[in-house]
Amino acid sequence: MLNRIHHLGYAVEDLRVASRFYRERFGADPGEPEAVEEQGIIAVMFPVGESRIELLQPTRPDSPIGKFLAKRGEGFHHTAFEVEDLESALAELDKSGVELIDQSPRVGAGGTKMAFVHPKAAFGVLTELVELPHS
Ligand code: CO
Repeated sequence: MLNRIHHLGYAVEDLRVASRFYRERFGADPGEPEAVEEQGIIAVMFPVGESRIELLQPTRPDSPIGKFLAKRGEGFHHTAFEVEDLESALAELDKSGVELIDQSPRVGAGGTKMAFVHPKAAFGVLTELVELPHS
């Protein structure tokens, strides 16, 4: 089901400070910030080889990322795996009794389809499944 690691998500207090750090200290190339208002986040992605790092800043304190920051502070937030067919992946997981946060795909940053598997079901790691737009 899992093709590769699409990205790792990090929660940060200030997207601009974090982007500058990765640009200046690691020579990374963070893209333009993209707001996903439904999730209460502004996200920046930058490529690392064939994978990516996603920096996430909350747009409001009561969003999931806002609550995460308040409780745990900055740091690792989720792993995102690329899948071929998100709908059937979710149906299969649900049928096997795996606890999902999203029963059906949502639209994520960059027009991808995405859904979260509950960290309780995945050994404490919030797990995102991503289906890329098909060309
Ligand atoms: Co993500």
